[in-house]
Amino acid sequence: MRIILVGFGVVGQNLAKLLLSRTDDVYARYGMKPRIVAAIDSRGAAVCSSGLDLQRLLEVKRLYGTVGVYNDESKQDEDGDVMHTGMDVVGRDRSTGSVVDEIIRGMDAEVLVEATPTNLRDGEPGLSNIITAIKHGKNVVTVNKGPLALAMPSLLELAEYNGVMLRFSGTVGGGTPILEFARHCLKGDRILSFRGILNGTTNYILSMMEEGLTFDDALEDARRKGYAEADPSLDVDGYDAAAKLAIMANWIMGMKVTIRDVRFRGIRDVSLDDILEAKSHGSVIKLLASCDESRRLSVEPMRVEKSEPLCVNGTLNAVTFKSEHSGELTVIGKGAGGMETASAILRDLIEVREAMSVG
Ligand SMILES: NC(=O)c1ccc[n+]([C@@H]2O[C@H](COP(=O)([O-])OP(=O)(O)OC[C@H]3O[C@@H](n4cnc5c(N)ncnc54)[C@H](OP(=O)(O)O)[C@@H]3O)[C@@H](O)[C@H]2O)c1
Repeated sequence: MRIILVGFGVVGQNLAKLLLSRTDDVYARYGMKPRIVAAIDSRGAAVCSSGLDLQRLLEVKRLYGTVGVYNDESKQDEDGDVMHTGMDVVGRDRSTGSVVDEIIRGMDAEVLVEATPTNLRDGEPGLSNIITAIKHGKNVVTVNKGPLALAMPSLLELAEYNGVMLRFSGTVGGGTPILEFARHCLKGDRILSFRGILNGTTNYILSMMEEGLTFDDALEDARRKGYAEADPSLDVDGYDAAAKLAIMANWIMGMKVTIRDVRFRGIRDVSLDDILEAKSHGSVIKLLASCDESRRLSVEPMRVEKSEPLCVNGTLNAVTFKSEHSGELTVIGKGAGGMETASAILRDLIEVREAMSVG
């Protein structure tokens, strides 16, 4: 299986490490030999139609800060500074976007793996990458939730029309198979509603507020530990949870929605008094993403009884599904992490491979 990997940051590099460590096992168990034929970051591209040497790719990224030097290592000066980026491989003086576009259109590959940063304003650059890949007959595995949050129904339709698969396990729950659990394990049942904690950063902040920290101190603590970004708005104001809820509603409930159909509010206004008041009633406040039985989608801070399985602490994610016959089932796991998310990509690649061998 030939893969074009766009985005070689935390997740992209962990995918390379995972493939290096699992090559024999993946071949023995699934008859699949994943080969990354192109890897792209914001400054350059490395390409090799027979498959990149992943050890060297990781080393090049570590040394020079871009994979662009992979095909072009001779172009270093004596101090190792980059004189030209790998954009020279496919053409000088062109934007990253046009180089990526050319690689996705032109290279022989079965799958695009999209791992560029999430952008919930216009979905770019991921949205264009995904559309180009699908239109050129390539399956897509994305961990970037931006394009799905903004255009999932039309992307799924486009994929179906072009006879390719679009998979996105890593967009919800990191490595925890929340989407698969609902879609596959509960196949014989009917999910009536679900609600869950889909954002680890806000759950961490609320957990620290339980311990007595103010919102600002808890946010600062989350930043120090690397759980919150410099601009925490995506998490704290509920956008991330709303994006994931929209993805779940499409995939699990068969709805055709985007983030614009989710009513959401973050945790900025939750005070220590609110937390203490909840505590006095045996409850805690959690940022809950819900799809109720009337299919209303919302994200908001809500009281949850401490005894509920959903009531997880720290950066964990948890989702409780209410199903017609099996009752309530809760899935709990780490919601993010480079290697966890890379394992979700591998899970999707195996699914694509299995579908390709059937079809
Ligand atoms: N990290 C997690 O635990 C996690 C979990 C679930 C989902 N995700 C999602 O996975 C995606 C990647 O996350 P990450 O943590 O790996 O982010 P990251 O470390 O910031 O990596 C992003 C990568 O995309 C590259 N990039 C940026 N703009 C680009 C462009 N225009 N064209 C090509 N490449 C571009 C960056 O290049 P440079 O290296 O040159 O900067 C970098 O290699 C995000 O959408 C994130 O929301 C992450």
